[in-house]
Amino acid sequence: MSMQRIDDITNLKRVLREHRQGGARIGLVATMGALHEGHLSLVDALRTRADVLVATVFVNPKQFGPSEDLDRYPRDLDRDASLLAGRGVHVLFAPSVRTIYPEGFRTTVSVAGVSEGLCGALRPGHFDGVATIVLKLFNIVAPDVAIFGEKDFQQLAVIRAMARDLDLDVEIVGAPIVREADGLAMSSRNAFLSPDERVRASALSAGLRAAQDAFRAGEQRGARLCEVARTVMLASAVHPQYLELRGLDDLAPLDFADRPSVLLTAAYVGSTRLIDNLILSRS
Ligand code: PAJ
Repeated sequence: MSMQRIDDITNLKRVLREHRQGGARIGLVATMGALHEGHLSLVDALRTRADVLVATVFVNPKQFGPSEDLDRYPRDLDRDASLLAGRGVHVLFAPSVRTIYPEGFRTTVSVAGVSEGLCGALRPGHFDGVATIVLKLFNIVAPDVAIFGEKDFQQLAVIRAMARDLDLDVEIVGAPIVREADGLAMSSRNAFLSPDERVRASALSAGLRAAQDAFRAGEQRGARLCEVARTVMLASAVHPQYLELRGLDDLAPLDFADRPSVLLTAAYVGSTRLIDNLILSRS
């Protein structure tokens, strides 16, 4: 089956209704394009969980703040389409902004609690924009299963909370972070980094790994684990916007890593904002 490219909602719903009536299980990978192996790993992980793989490419203006990088966000739909087709995606939905947000669009979905703090504190409205588009995509595609990367850990928590609160009939699957050889989490925004910034950017993951080492050596104090990570980041002149220990399941702030926990960070490297996180584990 070759990949179908669809840009209107009615057509997409019709095509997916036919698949569903034939008994197919529908899987969704939502993206903003400029695809890399991190995105494509989601497609791979979905392949064993669904019969019809739907990918969406939509740079969602509602999740960008007024001074953020919406205008310079990388876009190359033909390249994205060929990568997705190569990984076995059956349907690519790449709508225009007008298709998704027609004149008069007025609804915002807001998930309290998990959307606050961390990136939510620094990007007002960001997670409302994410929740709104993801719910809309869920309603358009009606997937049985949807997969999201742990790279955007808080986003995954927001989507899980929304699905639970609103009784959405979709299984939400989280997938591990795909990294470059030096540890940098893959991101469409890595393309913005100059060669020097690209080298310094690896300090985010190196810092988190140093904290992981300290944890494995017995350190449980959150402040100390964050200090270890911060020292490594600062040595590369990377100043974290936040560096926090949180509970794995609820993202609650933690003083001690005495239950399943995750360290999360965000930092500007030059003019590019990067995020990363690491789930603490004993081995
Ligand atoms: P985008 O940044 O394009 O990411 C799309 C999906 O790919 C997200 O689930 C994200 O967590 C995942 N992803 C990105 N980099 C990854 C990596 N290095 N390893 C594993 N997964 C990775 O996230 C968004 O788009 C948008 O907010 C979206 C959910 C599409 C709503 O607009």
